[in-house]
Amino acid sequence: MPQASQWLFPLFSDHENYDRVTMKQFSDLHLYTGSKCNRQCDFCIVSGRPDGWYKPLTAETLDAALGLVPMDATIKFYGGEPTIDVENMLWAFAYLRARGFVGWLTIFTNGVLADRIVRLLEADAKTDVVLNYSILHGEDAEPIPAKALATLTAYAVANPDRIYSSHAGVFPFGRGAEFVAAVGQDHIVERMHTSFDKKIEVGEMNIETANQIEARGFRLCPRCRPVVGTDGRHHACPFAVESSAPHFDLGSIGESSEIVLHRFQNFLDWINDVLEPAAERFQIHPCLVCTHKLSELPIYNGAPEK
Ligand SMILES: C[S@@+](CC[C@H](N)C(=O)[O-])C[C@H]1O[C@@H](n2cnc3c(N)ncnc32)[C@H](O)[C@@H]1O
Ligand code: SF4
Ligand code: SF4
Repeated sequence: MPQASQWLFPLFSDHENYDRVTMKQFSDLHLYTGSKCNRQCDFCIVSGRPDGWYKPLTAETLDAALGLVPMDATIKFYGGEPTIDVENMLWAFAYLRARGFVGWLTIFTNGVLADRIVRLLEADAKTDVVLNYSILHGEDAEPIPAKALATLTAYAVANPDRIYSSHAGVFPFGRGAEFVAAVGQDHIVERMHTSFDKKIEVGEMNIETANQIEARGFRLCPRCRPVVGTDGRHHACPFAVESSAPHFDLGSIGESSEIVLHRFQNFLDWINDVLEPAAERFQIHPCLVCTHKLSELPIYNGAPEK
């Protein structure tokens, strides 16, 4: 595992800290274009692969996203590998800006297509990039090609605060669950320690919180903000986005934003009231409950829909 002095790019932190329990501060959202990827990482939570599915962003997808967040929020692009269709991303940036979106456009990428990443960064001054920690450091994954790393490093030196590294944790959902089973708990704990070290270093976490989470066996759902998918669905979890279980279903694109947000609040309540207590009962990570035991859990425990 790399030590602090060897971390190549600063840890990405959300531009605005959000309340993970209620909807009051809905400061970011994910756009998902499918599992198609130019890599096939063993731990990949969305089962990214070269023959994965891909659908480009459309006006309908972007309008649905704009209906859910304020104009100064952060819109996060991921996949699969979003840079594969760089022209579609450039079009999406222009579309969002033309409609008055002034927040950050954040791209989660493996960094392999570095020239395209630079093109995206150059196209819009409020765009930033989060590189996959594992690929960046060759930890459990084939490392980023040296030429791509050199391109990104040079850009970062000339343009601070535009390129970051992702968190180092590995969550056991989907293919990630198989990976965790294969490498064993000690390795996962080591990666969580690296993840926490990075968060402590940037002030995103303190040592007491890190110790409390570890004492709880890391059995916490990160409660990420939801996803608008180019498959036409609103999905509650960016990690479980490939799951069609009804627990994650926030509805179809085209439904009113109010209803989608209401369902997401119900989902947050379900994590608190159903999912995490079940993880404690089973003594497993909640992502494993989402992978293997959802059929044993009721869907939402929240208020009925308006
Ligand atoms: C699914 S990837 C898609 C974007 C891009 N291909 C990449 O690798 O960054 C988005 C983020 O998910 C993270 N990720 C993938 N598998 C994970 C897992 N099992 N646990 C936690 N994060 C994971 C990656 O590190 C990356 O930051
Ligand atoms: S983690 Fe990213 S690069 Fe790796 S397979 Fe998944 S989507 Fe592709
Ligand atoms: S625990 Fe479930 S809802 Fe939370 S991140 Fe994992 S898969 Fe998603």
